[in-house]
Parts: sequence; structure tokens; C-alpha cells
Amino acid sequence: MTIKVALQEAGSVIPAKEAQLLLAYFLQKDKLYLIMHEETILKNEDGYFQLIERARNDEPIEYITKSVSFYSRYFFIQQGALIPRPETEILIDKVVNIAENFDKPHIAEIGVGSGIISCMLALLLKEVHITATDISEDALNIARINAEKFQVQDRITFVHTPYLKGINQRFDIIVSNPPYIANDAAVENNLSYEPDIALFGGESGDEILKEIIDIACCHDNCVLCCEMGYDQKEPLTRYMREKGIYESHFYQDWSGLDRGFTATIGEQHQK
Ligand SMILES: C[S@@+](CC[C@H](N)C(=O)[O-])C[C@H]1O[C@@H](n2cnc3c(N)ncnc32)[C@H](O)[C@@H]1O
Repeated sequence: MTIKVALQEAGSVIPAKEAQLLLAYFLQKDKLYLIMHEETILKNEDGYFQLIERARNDEPIEYITKSVSFYSRYFFIQQGALIPRPETEILIDKVVNIAENFDKPHIAEIGVGSGIISCMLALLLKEVHITATDISEDALNIARINAEKFQVQDRITFVHTPYLKGINQRFDIIVSNPPYIANDAAVENNLSYEPDIALFGGESGDEILKEIIDIACCHDNCVLCCEMGYDQKEPLTRYMREKGIYESHFYQDWSGLDRGFTATIGEQHQK
């Protein structure tokens, strides 16, 4: 079977773009190679069609290829950590803007997952140290691989712990993209490959976010930056008011949906 025929056959069961991506991954070549070698015989076509079968069963392409594009870079990913979503780039930009008001900010990330937030912050902010936690060892291992890939491992301390438990340090900025989907929400098939602990945030979905707000309240003069569900602005505004936090700004994603907030806890230490 030629490359051209393999792509036609695969493209009849999964989207053509995915079939092409998987063949490029399988052959360890780029898209241009596939175009220039349409008539080349595909060796071990069974191996390629096994990948197609996995994709047909809704396994995310990112897990199959162990690679995900985020913030114009390719991060390592595999089952065990959430696949980064593009809207999290907005959260990173918010943190970068806020961090510019601090001299050598100490940043904590709760729920580091694949490490995209902490790694990007370390790449974008030169004088920063980040403490990154997660309750999943699998996720922490993936985050460590990415930190080494981007050579920022010296500026990120990874800790296997819930929230910031056992870390006796004050942080200027706490950032988190926690699980925020309600436990009983109807979700798409391909989410079943991602860890439940990365997706589901409790009965109403905002329980972990509220816990993180409580933790931030113990860090005087800190800014909390979080991603959240599109329908959580109201309950979180109410909760923050109950906690005496009045300086909060909600932001939207590129579809115009409420997607996150930044909140100032007490007075900020300015430069
Ligand atoms: C939505 S994922 C976000 C991953 C990554 N930061 C990103 O933006 O792609 C949430 C992460 O929080 C972790 N997590 C869940 N509950 C946690 C807790 N109580 N303390 C620390 N991490 C937690 C999960 O294991 C998962 O890796």
C-alpha cells in the first residue's frame, strides 16, 4: 500500500488531518515528506492502522503522539495528565502581567498537571521561582519531563501534595487551573482518557476553586489567578465577597465565555 492509499483509507474512518498527523508521527517525518512521497510503499502498514484504530476509539491524538502544541511550543504529554487547552494561555498572560509588578516574585501553582503553566511562566519571567504541586505522581513526572525539556527545572520545585499542604512559605502569586467540572456533568467521550482528578471539581464543580480561595486568604498581599468554568462567575464572586475579597477581575476566553479571574488578597507588595 502506498502512502497516498493509506491516507485515503485512514481518512475514511477518522478526519483526514488526524490521519496525516498520525502518519507523520508513525514515520517520524513531516507533512511535506508525506506530500512528496505519495507513491512510496508504506512499510508496516498494520502499525499505522493500529494508531488509526486508537484514534477511531476517541483516544486523543495528543496522547497517541505524546505531543501537544501550547503557547507556540511542543510539550510532552501522555495519559496521566490533562491535555492542555488553548484558553489556559490567557491565564498565563494574566499572571505574566501581574508578575511584572513584583521584584523576583514567588509563585505557587496548585495542580501543575503537565507543567505547561509553570514551565511557560519560568520561560517568560526570567527572575522567578515557582513551587508547583499536584496530587498525581503521574502528572508530576510529566511536568518534570517538560521542565527539563525547556531547561527550567532549576526554577521550579515540584511537590507531591494537595493544594499547598506542608509548604510553609508566603507566595506573591498563586495560580491554578484546577478541576472545575461538576461531578455529574455530561462530558464528551474523549474526556474518558483524561484523569478524573484533573477534570471533576466536586458536586457543583467549584469546590476546589473555593478551597484555593481559602488558601490564598492565608497569604497576605498575594494575587490569586485561576481558570474556572463558564458558569462559575456568580458563585465565586459571592464566595470571595464572603471572604472579604472585593478586588477581583473576571476575564473571558476567545469565545466570550467567562473563563477565569484574578483577585487581590490584601495589599500588594509593589516594586
Ligand atoms: C485541570 S488540570 C490542570 C493541569 C495544568 N495545570 C493545565 O493547566 O493544563 C488540574 C490538575 O490539578 C490536580 N489536582 C486535583 N486536585 C488537586 C489538589 N487538591 N491539590 C493539588 N493538585 C490537584 C490534578 O491532578 C490535575 O493535574
